[in-house]
Amino acid sequence: MARVALVTGGTRGIGRAIVERLKADGLLVAAGYSGNDEAAAECAKSLGVMVIKGNVGNFADCKAAVEKIEAELGPIDVLVNNAGITRDGVFHKMTSEQWSEVIRVNMDSLFNMTRQVIEGMRERGWGRIINISSINGQKGQIGQTNYSAAKAGVIGFTKALALENARKGVTVNCVAPGYIDTEMVQAVPPKVLEGIIAQIPAGRLGSGEEIADTVSFLAGERAAYVTGTTLSLNGGQYLVG
Ligand code: CAA
Repeated sequence: MARVALVTGGTRGIGRAIVERLKADGLLVAAGYSGNDEAAAECAKSLGVMVIKGNVGNFADCKAAVEKIEAELGPIDVLVNNAGITRDGVFHKMTSEQWSEVIRVNMDSLFNMTRQVIEGMRERGWGRIINISSINGQKGQIGQTNYSAAKAGVIGFTKALALENARKGVTVNCVAPGYIDTEMVQAVPPKVLEGIIAQIPAGRLGSGEEIADTVSFLAGERAAYVTGTTLSLNGGQYLVG
């Protein structure tokens, strides 16, 4: 029987590339999204996957989404916690809303989503939790104290949960992308982005497909012995600057 995957933030950007790849791998895939109905409808139509609306920052929404997916597709075997937002600004000007929105969506979501599926995975003795962190959680970034804190939190969460579930056939890993060619990165002021790309040893932005390839590996049978780790895909950017 095909395994079932849920990718949060799965209708656009990196998430969409992951959805496409996992579907090509033969999984039954649901893509979560929070606001952009048009992108979701397009994703459902062109990829032929289930799309489900809800706010990953809200526990009740996550519970309802998982119940619906499990009723339609079956128990979730692979959860990709990908949904994320930025509210960039230097800390001495950051508002409490900018801080909390990012913590809620990028980090509280890990509890809200993973809590819905972890017991089932443990009972069935198989599961894959893949959390999307960021190079900026690993090395910090001016204008992103909120995002860097959340994405570093994702790594800590991953390690602790990996330890708790290693004997249950459930692996928990992080993928930490660098700057990937998505709407989120294209929203960085052009001059700033130019400077960032100039620093990347590979000399270019990454692609969603490159991230999706790594997620595909982690989601598969061959990655059974990989747990608690962070795979960094950043074109060498972590090594410089
Ligand atoms: N070093 C030190 N201080 C700096 C600085 C720098 N490089 N750049 C700006 N500042 C300081 C200025 O000195 C100024 O301080 P004062 O208030 O004391 O004068 C202040 O920051 C400027 O404040 P502004 O709000 O006017 O700044 P701005 O409009 O220039 O915006 C910024 C600053 C928010 C950091 C902006 O440059 C920016 O958005 N940078 C991009 C951040 C980024 O890389 N985000 C990644 C988004 S993609 C993503 O997150 C995906 C992923 O995982 C990689």
